Amino acid sequence: MVHIDILSLFPEMFQGPFGIGILKRAIDRKLVSISIHNIRDYTHDKHATVDDYPYGGGAGMILKPEPIFEAVESIKSDICRKQGVSDIDCYTLPIILLTPQGRLYSQHIAAELSTHRQMTLICGHYEGVDERVPEYLASDEISIGDYVLSGGELAAMVVVDAVVRLLPGVLGSQASLLEDSHVTGLLEYPQYTRPAVHRERSVPEVLLSGNHAQIAKWRREQAILRTLKRRPELLDKANLCSEERQLVERLSTSPGKSAGDKWSGQQLMEENS
Ligand code: 6GU
Repeated sequence: MVHIDILSLFPEMFQGPFGIGILKRAIDRKLVSISIHNIRDYTHDKHATVDDYPYGGGAGMILKPEPIFEAVESIKSDICRKQGVSDIDCYTLPIILLTPQGRLYSQHIAAELSTHRQMTLICGHYEGVDERVPEYLASDEISIGDYVLSGGELAAMVVVDAVVRLLPGVLGSQASLLEDSHVTGLLEYPQYTRPAVHRERSVPEVLLSGNHAQIAKWRREQAILRTLKRRPELLDKANLCSEERQLVERLSTSPGKSAGDKWSGQQLMEENS
């Protein structure tokens, strides 16, 4: 069982997402346990102050270091007590600050995190967190994309969701994980279900053929074409055979353009139609 502690100013936010679907089922089946801690509970003044003005001036408020340090220390000592050890290193317990300044979250980071038995996530807020938190308390800083959220909670949910679905036993079929977009380094191929004809639009014939080799070939091509069209930069790192590289090369070089220019989405659609 994997254990995740989350420090937040708004613990109620997690109830929806963690109380439904795959995450709820994983919790019910004791594949993961998640404890949400209110940072405010670790303050000592009567107003339960968690933030303060920035030194040097500027807009907004900054999360104070003391309650966050105390919350993490309390979590750490609980874990040490349960495991009968006197200290715990950052490999055993990654302590992750969610912040737009962090390294960009990816399937690769989710897979790495899913190998840990426990982790602690700290949700940043307001204009920021006192720099002593990332510098001396957190072992890692993660951002989920190049945009600014009003707090780290939604980002923590994203991080947890992507990790938990990778844990053994969480999804019905482990095989489906191997076909996920970003696992193969490519976007996923188009999927269809019944009816075979919907509003006069048919499912691609090859999928109805029952020819598994042809289907696998079609899907692989579609994944490559879709990746080239939507996220060409992913192809540099994708695992393509030399024939597939040649296909990409052919499609990326149109007669009227200099070699190496990417085709626009529209051109590729025409090419494929
Ligand atoms: Cl982790 N936090 C906030 N506040 N904004 C973000 C983010 C995190 N990742 C992307 N934007």
